[in-house]
Order: sequence, then C-alpha cells, then structure tokens
Amino acid sequence: MAKILIVYYSRKGENYVNGSITTITKGNTERVAEYIQKAVGGDLFEVETLRPYSESYMTCIDEAKQELRAGARPELKAYPENFEEYDTVFVGYPNWWGTMPMCMFTLLEKYDFTGKTVIPFCTNEGSGLGSSEKDLKKLCKGALLKPGLSVHGAESESAGSKTAVWARNSV
Ligand SMILES: Cc1cc2nc3c(=O)[nH]c(=O)nc-3n(C[C@H](O)[C@H](O)[C@H](O)COP(=O)(O)O)c2cc1C
Repeated sequence: MAKILIVYYSRKGENYVNGSITTITKGNTERVAEYIQKAVGGDLFEVETLRPYSESYMTCIDEAKQELRAGARPELKAYPENFEEYDTVFVGYPNWWGTMPMCMFTLLEKYDFTGKTVIPFCTNEGSGLGSSEKDLKKLCKGALLKPGLSVHGAESESAGSKTAVWARNSV
C-alpha cells in the first residue's frame, strides 16, 4: 500500500470569512487536511514558519504580498521526517495572492519528487487554486501531479464528504 503524507500550511487568527473579519482557532486548510487523513489515512504534517505571519489579517496580507514580490523563502520550524519513504504527498495551502504561501516553496524546494504522486488541495475566498498547480509542476519535478481540490474557506467545515470522495478517488 502507498505510504501517504499530508503536508499543509494553515493560518490561525484573524481571517476574512464571507465578507467580514473573524478570529478562527483552526485554519480552513487544516480542517480539510484532517478530512483527508480521516478518508485515506496517512501522516499529517503542519508547516510552521520560524517567524509566524501576523495574526492581524491586514498585516498578513501585506507580509504575504512582500514575500511574493521578493520571491522570499521564509525559514521553517521543522521538516517532515523520512520524506523519501512517502509515495503519495497531499500538499495543502490557502490561496495567498493567487498561489501558495511562500513557506510552501521553502518546503517543496528541499525534496526530490521523482516518482512520487502529488495531490494539491487549496482553500480560498474564490480564486480557486490560482496558479499554484503551475508552480507545483515546477517545484515537484518528476512527480505525477493529480488534479487539485479547491474548497471555499468558509465552507471548509462542511466539506468533509466532498473532500473524502475526492481524496479516495485521488490515491
Ligand atoms: C495573505 C492572504 C492572501 C490571500 N489571498 C487570496 C487570494 O488571492 N484569493 C483568494 O481567493 N483568497 C485569498 N485569501 C483568503 C484565503 O485563501 C482563505 O481565507 C483561506 O481559506 C485561508 O486558509 P487557512 O485558514 O487555512 O489559512 C488570502 C488570505 C490571506 C491571509
């Protein structure tokens, strides 16, 4: 049986939910990651930056924009262990300015993806996966990239069955 890793970044704190700023204690992408694990098993790994992004939504928006413009590679607290042992890697992130947060670039650049299957999932406020699949193609050279799942952030809590069906069909 294929060994599965579910690696994701998800931000807690202030978030924009259906038009207003609300404080959330569990990130939208984290919820989806947990639904995937429930459906297909595997190991969960949460990406955390050494210097956390601001809890303030508006400040974080600016930080993320600057990082994207600068092509930044923010340092991570830790990396998944024994990455080479996984055959299938679900990669989860919020859509930030049309692609993944730059910390996902830091992570993905570290590894050799040859022969692995990569399955993206992305929560967002309406932009879907944006250009993240194109970016993943470049970052995960040699991987088989499967079609990604887009979940509207505000609906992540109720996206359990949609996520489970997609995850089971993807592995
Ligand atoms: C810095 C930042 C940039 C964002 N840019 C976009 C965007 O370009 N398009 C979009 O649809 N949503 C955007 N969003 C909304 C998030 O993608 C959405 O709220 C997501 O579900 C958050 O996931 P999380 O709770 O796992 O961090 C942005 C949010 C932040 C904080």
